Amino acid sequence: MTAGKTPIDKPIVLVGLMGVGKSTIGRRLANRLGLPFVDSDDEIEAAAGMQVGELFENYGEDYFRDGERRVIARLIDGSVKVIATGGGAFVNDETRSLILKDAMAIWLDADIDVLAERVSRRDTRPLVRDTDPKMVLSELAAKRNQYYAQAPIHVQSGEGAHEDTVDRIMEALAQ
Ligand code: S3P
Repeated sequence: MTAGKTPIDKPIVLVGLMGVGKSTIGRRLANRLGLPFVDSDDEIEAAAGMQVGELFENYGEDYFRDGERRVIARLIDGSVKVIATGGGAFVNDETRSLILKDAMAIWLDADIDVLAERVSRRDTRPLVRDTDPKMVLSELAAKRNQYYAQAPIHVQSGEGAHEDTVDRIMEALAQ
């Protein structure tokens, strides 16, 4: 599998804040590359038999992070695929080290206003439920961007078409 002439020989892992489009863009990128796609939140939900919101509510965030770390370690098994992660995954030291060592991390980034508008459309995310999403996302960006910035590829995902973002990722991968 190649992007341009560059071989893709590791899993591609999308990281970044909630609402940036990791799953939607990940699925399209996987399609473009002819690779399988997996979403770590979906895998956690399947393993737990519970939704992310219920996991947070019933067992707390630490429990969720522990499951997230184990699921991502299982997904990074050497086979080449596109993996969308939950927004907090790459902030966990162990998960980040594993991704940086064995995968190709891509930071998908967008303006806070764009993210806030997107997360407001659904109420499935425990960290922004019943809050001012713009405020919470700004606080998360202030804490987390230093970690996301460790990804070797940084791509902006604006209000434009998702396929444009996929084009930019393909270009970055081909460098
Ligand atoms: C989280 C992001 C969510 C999900 C959970 C926690 C976070 O995933 O993993 O609600 O800490 O940013 P998305 O980034 O796919 O919304």
